[in-house]
Amino acid sequence: MMLRTVVSTLTAISVSGVAAQSLPRQYTSPADDLSSRIETQNGISLQGVLNNIGPNGAKAPGASAGVIIASPSTEDPNYYFTWTRDAALTMKMLVDEFIHGNTGLRPVIQDYLKAQAILQTVSNPSGALYSGRGLGEPKFYSNETRFNGDWGRPQRDGPALRATALIAYARWLLSTTDSADYTEVAEEVWPVVQNDLNYVVQYWNETGFDLWEEVRGSSFFTTAVQHRALVEGIVLGDQLGHPTDAYTAQAPNILCFLQTFWNGQYAIANINSETPRTGIDANTVLTSIATFDPGAECDNELFQPCSAWALANLQVYVDSFRTRYSINSNATDGSAIATGRYASDVYYGGQAWYLTTFAVAEQLYDAIQQWNTIKTLTVSSTDLAFWQSIYPSAQLGTYSKGNGNGTFESLVNAALAYADGFTEVGLKYTPASGALSEQFSGDNGIQVSARDLTWSYASFVTLRGARLAATSDYEQVPSWGAPSGSTVPSTCESGSTVGQYVPATAAGAPAGAGGCTLIVTFNVNASTFFGENLYLWGNVSELGNWIPTDALAGSANGYTQDRPLWTFDVELPADSNVRYYYLRKEPDGSFLYETVDRMFTNLECAESVGPGSTTIEDVWVGPTGTPGKKMLF
Ligand SMILES: *[C@@H]1O[C@H](CO)[C@@H](O)[C@H](O)[C@H]1NC(C)=O
Ligand SMILES: *[C@@H]1O[C@H](CO)[C@@H](O)[C@H](O)[C@H]1NC(C)=O
Ligand SMILES: *[C@@H]1O[C@H](CO)[C@@H](O)[C@H](O)[C@H]1NC(C)=O
Ligand SMILES: *[C@@H]1O[C@H](CO)[C@@H](O)[C@H](O)[C@H]1NC(C)=O
Ligand SMILES: *[C@@H]1O[C@H](CO)[C@@H](O)[C@H](O)[C@H]1NC(C)=O
Ligand SMILES: *[C@@H]1O[C@H](CO)[C@@H](O)[C@H](O)[C@H]1NC(C)=O
Repeated sequence: MMLRTVVSTLTAISVSGVAAQSLPRQYTSPADDLSSRIETQNGISLQGVLNNIGPNGAKAPGASAGVIIASPSTEDPNYYFTWTRDAALTMKMLVDEFIHGNTGLRPVIQDYLKAQAILQTVSNPSGALYSGRGLGEPKFYSNETRFNGDWGRPQRDGPALRATALIAYARWLLSTTDSADYTEVAEEVWPVVQNDLNYVVQYWNETGFDLWEEVRGSSFFTTAVQHRALVEGIVLGDQLGHPTDAYTAQAPNILCFLQTFWNGQYAIANINSETPRTGIDANTVLTSIATFDPGAECDNELFQPCSAWALANLQVYVDSFRTRYSINSNATDGSAIATGRYASDVYYGGQAWYLTTFAVAEQLYDAIQQWNTIKTLTVSSTDLAFWQSIYPSAQLGTYSKGNGNGTFESLVNAALAYADGFTEVGLKYTPASGALSEQFSGDNGIQVSARDLTWSYASFVTLRGARLAATSDYEQVPSWGAPSGSTVPSTCESGSTVGQYVPATAAGAPAGAGGCTLIVTFNVNASTFFGENLYLWGNVSELGNWIPTDALAGSANGYTQDRPLWTFDVELPADSNVRYYYLRKEPDGSFLYETVDRMFTNLECAESVGPGSTTIEDVWVGPTGTPGKKMLF
């Protein structure tokens, strides 16, 4: 049964269209079989992605159509969810493959579009569609229902990345002469994209969790992908005749904000954060490849792969892993190594990651494509150290392609050899099956954490496309219209444009979804001890529907010695009645229940005077816990 599914998927979706490539322009890898090993791993990786997509994916049983699970792993860790970010990055890859002739992928893209139209309307602990806040929810169950457990939320990169993936598809639809394609983009794709762009312009200037779901603050990655989504959203909106003023107003503010992450040596991964870290993080390398534009020059402002800032940053990031893993111990300075998320990572021991090691190679392949296109390469004081680490005789200067002297070619060849080194490191620790997990041990290269990670597979497919583009006339990704020589405003302004959020019903959102909701703040005085937490539950799905493990986690951010305050912000349907009370979760996982029945009637929609206008003040009534019980976790 399982085998049949795999075979039929393989038949339906061939990995063709890009088989015959022109020869490398100037560099032959010392490992002359690297290209063919990459092709083999690419086929396995693309199939690995498809296996993780509902409804037919061999490793995604029960996932709804178009839902991309993060990994088939259901325990240690449980990744059997769909993350908006991972899914969108994966879908962007699939759209690019589709545009390159893998026509069998179109139904997968259309299923994804429908799944996203539905997920946009699923109210969740981050909020609901009506206010837009629900779009910042990081993950859902694979059956398109809300996940109520504690999590780092909201995460504000998801809507932007989803817009980018769908805009890539929209550009293709607009490039055909088929009127059905125009209808598809105008009536189905745009309404989903519009909600996501509206989210970006309303919430970009608020903090959220980073892509690793650990740091609350402002993430470089999030800010950069938000800027990209708006820039391409403006073009698409204009083409379709929709208002884009709000996007035009906020895009320069976001670009301005993006500059403030650069500290002169590297881009700091997260600012506006209380989490103490160096800020040297794969976040920034992933940014460079997520916003790569083959039509852009080496702009620092846009952190393009070939820019001096991005290259200097790459070196700082890579060097932070040189002594981090014993599998890197034989590597000399300037040679490729395995990398992870950030050097102080402790998740699963903070091992090496495939997708970060491959990202280093991909940034360099992208940069090579850019130098080859603009036919010039500048070594500046900012990136001189990077160049000298891989090409010791590099000197400051601007070198032209094909001017006879050969410096341009020598530098590009050094970058290509270095990039191939990272590809080789990732492949070295890939088992013969080609299966890619999330991490591989820094001690011995054995796979660690979630198996068959969708994002790991997707990162290999994009690496392969980037390498082809660096070494042939293949054009991996189209330009997204990066504003070359972009003018960054001289002073950065805060900003927010309140948007309207409408269910994309033509794309598949359920009729009647997206009704008026109001944000209600529940404050409760409840003295707790360290390790004891407060939850809110009730008879509505927003409050867990009387399932204790689905109760909403409270925030103790306002808890002081003077006031034992726990707070919950919940978006509830207007004009609705709710029964609720509070729970205490003890360190051993047991619950203590309030001995009182509480009732609340939400305002009517028209009575609302804006977010946070309704606040309920309660005091805990019921048993209290005893400190000192054994901690379960
Ligand atoms: C959706 O999946 C979750 C997790 O497996 C499960 O608890 C829940 O009952 C499912 N909901 C529906 C409506 O199928
Ligand atoms: C909001 O924007 C201003 C201006 O760029 C910036 O100084 C501030 O740090 C931003 N805050 C957040 C949370 O994005
Ligand atoms: C380092 O090199 C030594 C000597 O060639 C070899 O025995 C060892 O396995 C290498 N270690 C790694 C992690 O590659
Ligand atoms: C090529 O020219 C540059 C600058 O003019 C110089 O620094 C470099 O040494 C030359 N390279 C060779 C191989 O002659
Ligand atoms: C929750 O309880 C209130 C009060 O009994 C009731 O009016 C309301 O309809 C209930 N909501 C749901 C979704 O059952
Ligand atoms: C909660 O505690 C604060 C500070 O002690 C107090 O001012 C407030 O009235 C209390 N709330 C309720 C509902 O009793």
